Amino acid sequence: MTGSRIAIFGAGYAGLVTGACFAELGHSVTIRDIVPEKISALQGGAVPIYEPGLEELIERNRERLRYTLDAAEAVRDAELVFVCVDTPPTYSGDADLSRVWTVIEELPPSSERTILVMKSTVPVGTGEKVRAALDARGLDHVGYVSNPEFLAEGTALNDFLEPDRIVVGAFEEADAEAVARLHAGIDAPIVKADVASAEMIKLASNAFLSTRISFINEIANVCELVGADVVRVAEGIGLDHRLGPHFLRAGVGWGGSCYGKDASSLKQLAGNSGYHFQLLAAMIEVNELQRRRVISKLQKHLGSLRGTTVALLGLAFKPGTDDMRDAPSLVIASRLLAEGADVRTWDPIADARDRLVGARQCDSVLDAVTGADAAVIVTEWDELRSLASPETLGAMRRPLIIDGRNLLDPDDVRAAGFAYEGIGRASSALDLLPETAEPDLREPARED
Ligand SMILES: NC(=O)c1ccc[n+]([C@@H]2O[C@H](COP(=O)([O-])OP(=O)(O)OC[C@H]3O[C@@H](n4cnc5c(N)ncnc54)[C@H](O)[C@@H]3O)[C@@H](O)[C@H]2O)c1
Repeated sequence: MTGSRIAIFGAGYAGLVTGACFAELGHSVTIRDIVPEKISALQGGAVPIYEPGLEELIERNRERLRYTLDAAEAVRDAELVFVCVDTPPTYSGDADLSRVWTVIEELPPSSERTILVMKSTVPVGTGEKVRAALDARGLDHVGYVSNPEFLAEGTALNDFLEPDRIVVGAFEEADAEAVARLHAGIDAPIVKADVASAEMIKLASNAFLSTRISFINEIANVCELVGADVVRVAEGIGLDHRLGPHFLRAGVGWGGSCYGKDASSLKQLAGNSGYHFQLLAAMIEVNELQRRRVISKLQKHLGSLRGTTVALLGLAFKPGTDDMRDAPSLVIASRLLAEGADVRTWDPIADARDRLVGARQCDSVLDAVTGADAAVIVTEWDELRSLASPETLGAMRRPLIIDGRNLLDPDDVRAAGFAYEGIGRASSALDLLPETAEPDLREPARED
């Protein structure tokens, strides 16, 4: 098989992974971005985002990968043009498609037959509008395909190369075939659909995944009140083959670049179309409240948070990525700062120095917990599995661990001398710091 010539607009998480994986499959790929620093970094062999294995994959396929700032150069000779630009939420909660429209405007007039492939997540109906815009620009010979992306950051290469399915929605069967053929070498079912259904598959999938998390988080909150342990409960639920074990981990809520904006986009899409999507609205609100529960857990143990020192461990919205878009850590940190706490943060990769003004980012976990009144696990990084150590115990002002990801074993943590509170774990409610800790731990917090 000779490879196809592909242009990709957007050198972000979706675009770089898509480009590198298509190069791995034997295609020639030109990636275009509008940020000069990204393109010069890529041209110099550096990868501007953190994604496990991506740097190696790009290096291995460097003969088939090119980078440019120039839209015309990117699409010259390209048989397919992939749109991988960001589609963030607007103030109204709808998806902001301005970058998508810019790409359409940037396509040079050409008589060559190309196919525009939408990988960015867009509201249902976008394909129809893009089709009309292309026709209005005299680009009616340019095909259009919706090919939504389901990769998850942290496991993106595997998700792309071994996906559960490949969704292809096209106006013309031949265009659907051309996009399907690009994936030769990947063993996955191809779901062919009309464009609107392909767009909806992506939005509905993400909404369903985040609904599962919000659901188990609500179960967790009830578990705390009635004396059940959500970890066991989730295990028992997940063994039901009709339900499966995935996305049943209770915690401080979902986040990241996609779930929030896609849920909001679907909710607004439904509303704009005359339907009030109640379940989605509730699911979003549950998540907002879940992120804030850490604050009341801290208050339960420490009383007023003014003058206390809290170590937030983990900033990325999940392990394996440096992405902090819509991360629970940012909400929790902002709430703590508003309560008057001194906030320390730590993350092995993500850097929030320019986002969390007033918080101090530390280089090590030990630095973050030294003198702290509480340590909160926000992201389940492997490094935090050994948090409940004698070293941490000796360093903290008060030995309190709030485990926002149920990463640690409660019995082990308590046996190590800490007060412990997880999410949805019944015994947490009995484990208030003043009753269990040494008397001097009840002293008011000192200034560092
Ligand atoms: N990140 C994910 O895990 C993921 C997964 C599935 C789908 N998606 C979807 O993919 C899309 C991109 O997401 P992302 O996370 O890669 O975003 P991102 O912000 O990391 O990357 C987008 C890139 O597009 C560039 N860009 C903007 N306008 C451009 C233009 N006119 N020409 C070329 N480049 C341009 C930006 O500079 C940026 O580098 C979104 O719609 C998102 O919902 C993302």
